[in-house]
Amino acid sequence: MKNNALIIFGGTGDLAYRKLFPALYDLYIFDKLEKNFYIIGIGRRDYTNEDYRSIIKDWVKNFSRRAYDEEKFEKFCLSIFYYKLHFMELEEYKNLYNYFNEMNLSNNLIYYYAVSPEFFEHITDGLAKHSDILKESKIIVEKPFGKDLESAQRLNLIFKKYLDYKNIYYIDHYLGKEMLLNIMTIRFFNTMFNGVWNNEFIDNVQINVFESIGVETRGGYYDKSGAIADMLQNHIFQILSIVAMNEPDTFSSSDIKDAQIDIFKKLRKINSKDIDDYMVLGQYDGYTKEKNVNPNSKTETYVAMKIFIDNERWKDVPFYVRTGKKLHSREMSIIIQFKPTTHTSKMLAQNYGNGDLQQIAENNILEIKIQPEEGINLRFNIKKPGTSDDIDVANLNYCQSCDAQNSINSPWSYERLLEACMNSNRTLFSRWEQIELSWKYMNEVMDNYRKYSNKLYVYEQGSKGPAQAEKIIGKDGRKWI
Ligand SMILES: NC(=O)c1ccc[n+]([C@@H]2O[C@H](COP(=O)([O-])OP(=O)(O)OC[C@H]3O[C@@H](n4cnc5c(N)ncnc54)[C@H](OP(=O)(O)O)[C@@H]3O)[C@@H](O)[C@H]2O)c1
Repeated sequence: MKNNALIIFGGTGDLAYRKLFPALYDLYIFDKLEKNFYIIGIGRRDYTNEDYRSIIKDWVKNFSRRAYDEEKFEKFCLSIFYYKLHFMELEEYKNLYNYFNEMNLSNNLIYYYAVSPEFFEHITDGLAKHSDILKESKIIVEKPFGKDLESAQRLNLIFKKYLDYKNIYYIDHYLGKEMLLNIMTIRFFNTMFNGVWNNEFIDNVQINVFESIGVETRGGYYDKSGAIADMLQNHIFQILSIVAMNEPDTFSSSDIKDAQIDIFKKLRKINSKDIDDYMVLGQYDGYTKEKNVNPNSKTETYVAMKIFIDNERWKDVPFYVRTGKKLHSREMSIIIQFKPTTHTSKMLAQNYGNGDLQQIAENNILEIKIQPEEGINLRFNIKKPGTSDDIDVANLNYCQSCDAQNSINSPWSYERLLEACMNSNRTLFSRWEQIELSWKYMNEVMDNYRKYSNKLYVYEQGSKGPAQAEKIIGKDGRKWI
């Protein structure tokens, strides 16, 4: 019997050690790996299988979801192998295939490109040069997919040349996060939300992805991509399309993707001269002194944007998005701010200017917390207990991650996504069209930005980002939440 296998290019990298191997160990523990399944890590170092397994052991101990079990790990690690290869040496791929034969591997392989995008083309060419089994294999491609529209299109052409479209898995690990998967349930299985998920009731949507860390050891990679390619074009646009999509006809992978893609097609173009009202870029103080970062770098570590979707549901509802490094907190959340009720609007009109805002109800807010805490908070108005008619704000809070049982039962992103790929389930992976449309939109925005603004604001580490980002939302009479 032949052995199926996952081949990890970049098998000695941070992603493989910190995320992939702990996830694979968890899948093993939950009996989700086939019996004859091998994992082959590829890197440039001179490791034996034993060296490699003992390194992986330490990472699994620290990063797997389940408590480490020595006996189980010893069995699991028998399926792990190390192979040394330089990606750029195309002739070396012939030896790789010889090695696959020695390992009695089937043609049903999964290649994981856990490497910088500059290697995608070489690896694909190398694999295609010496065998045509690539057509039968799957590849998992890490983000960022390209650094702009042209580079993404070029990579796509190379993949299309050698691979069947259905076998390309563009991974966005945010799509495996529990609360992101929950958005569709919250929206489509609750009348109280589904009925009001439109411009009649929603005033604005805010998507925040804050990181408190800087580039750390990844300065070389980050300096070539920046916040737009690293976060906005992929993670944030995915989140936005899930929040905004119309109800799909069915919950099949293709209907969900179609609904998401409709949103990308409807992103409103930004009038070139108004670009400063729609986008602010920043760089944290000290970024240019980070290791492997160009001392004159103009790479953005922060981006804030206002985005409109030109369809019936979202006509004139702004989506404000923000992401950045070295900010005041680590947090990812989606905030749906509802419009005031007719009664509140009337009261606001009457009381406006007299300072007596005690009686004015606040807008309802639904906050979907994605990380670090996972859960939902719903803010609503109540009468303040007592003899006055004052209005107070109450919060209904559901913390999913506070429940230990939920944490144990809920697979982590990479675990969920690796399992989905093994089962050929594409729902949690991006489609090429999504990538292309989001790059098309961002390319145009960036062209305008370079031409009509090109500002890059330096912000203090640990702050909320450049003060200029306040203007985007402040001009509309709103505040970031
Ligand atoms: N780290 C994360 O959490 C994370 C999350 C999401 C996406 N990603 C993406 O995943 C990719 C990899 O990230 P990473 O953090 O794992 O990078 P990394 O730690 O720098 O690892 C790079 C890997 O590529 C190998 N490599 C580099 N050049 C090579 C060459 N010429 N020939 C053979 N092997 C070569 C390295 O092998 P040697 O070490 O043996 O030289 C190492 O295994 C990046 O595109 C990143 O954006 C990473």
